[in-house]
Amino acid sequence: MTTTLVSGIAELVTNDPHLEGADQGEGLGLLRDAAVVISDDGDHPTVQWVGPEGRAPQADRKVDVEGRAVIPGFVDSHSHLVFAGDRSAEFAARMTGQPYDGGGIAVTMAATRAATDDELRRLVADRVEEMRAQGTTTVEIKSGYGLDTDNEARALRIAREFTEETTFLGAHVVPPEAREDRDAYVRLVTGPMLDACAPHARWIDVFCEPNSAHAFTEEESRRVLQAGRAKGLELRLHGNQLGHGPGVQLAVELGAASIDHCTYLSDRDVEALVGAADTTVATLLPGVEFSTRSPYPDGRALIDAGVSIALATDCNPGTCYSSSMPLVIALAVREMGLTPGEALRAATAGAAKALRRNDIGWIGVGSRADLTVLAAPSYLHLPYRPGVPIAFALDPTAA
Ligand code: NIG
Ligand code: FE
Repeated sequence: MTTTLVSGIAELVTNDPHLEGADQGEGLGLLRDAAVVISDDGDHPTVQWVGPEGRAPQADRKVDVEGRAVIPGFVDSHSHLVFAGDRSAEFAARMTGQPYDGGGIAVTMAATRAATDDELRRLVADRVEEMRAQGTTTVEIKSGYGLDTDNEARALRIAREFTEETTFLGAHVVPPEAREDRDAYVRLVTGPMLDACAPHARWIDVFCEPNSAHAFTEEESRRVLQAGRAKGLELRLHGNQLGHGPGVQLAVELGAASIDHCTYLSDRDVEALVGAADTTVATLLPGVEFSTRSPYPDGRALIDAGVSIALATDCNPGTCYSSSMPLVIALAVREMGLTPGEALRAATAGAAKALRRNDIGWIGVGSRADLTVLAAPSYLHLPYRPGVPIAFALDPTAA
């Protein structure tokens, strides 16, 4: 076993409610002049000790972060990284008034099917690396641009090379070749495609959006999710993105871990999310509102009502081609009324909850040693310095 002492931490955000001597304002478990000891004896390095630097135990190696802030690595609980092709022209058209309706997904599907395994693997590797370089240490990756059995299973096999958090999204849209018979496509997704994909996935997701002709109705979505659950997959949904819809109610009814987007919410939806706060997280994706010129949901009202929230990028070629959790935090603060501390918690502990993980999203004895360093004295600089690359994931083995 090798231990590493990370010292020189001017401000440490732990998200640990039990940490002795920590400032618990906003649940951040914040320590000043702190140190962390990491041990790398398992599959993944874990935290062995957290406390004031003056009381730090000896370790085999030492990394001095020289007065920077350290936070739990960002958990990006929603991304679509397995894709090829380019839709920048669609983005440009949207900026001059073209609405988003999901139709562009078929363009990415064609490019993704045409790519070789090695090309796709390289694209995913580059995007995961881009995320790490901005402080993300856990990423969920969905399929959803294959939309036939072989290409969906291939996307998940490649995603699994990069993360345990893989999600089967065969029900992203009905592909062009299946438009004449939607029901046959739902039968494929809930039958042979699910059988081929389930071994490579932890989660199942569906784009539940009656406001899009390409996506799925409430009834179709329920069939897809129930079939996935019967195969041992856990549930998450895309919903309430393009207008008011059934996504939130369905997520709560089925006990999904997360309902993602939540751009349009009724009072009834908020009530349902409050009642389900222990089970179902509302994952907000402000990069999508930014890149589709949509109204931002009122994150402040959700927190005040008692909803559990997370923040994620949704990194994808259509609605948000950004891998930046710091950008998402800045948007949540500026446009959704969150405090910087609330936004940071939603991008770490909140997103860990949306993935039903208790080993990430915080820094404390027994957690994973996923530490993100900020080239700044405080986490407040995340929204204060938008667009400036101040966050990066620490590689403790590079000491
Ligand atoms: O999360 N809404 C559905 N799926 C993605 C967008 C996919 C695309 O346009 O390529 C999303 O926004
Ligand atoms: Fe998405």
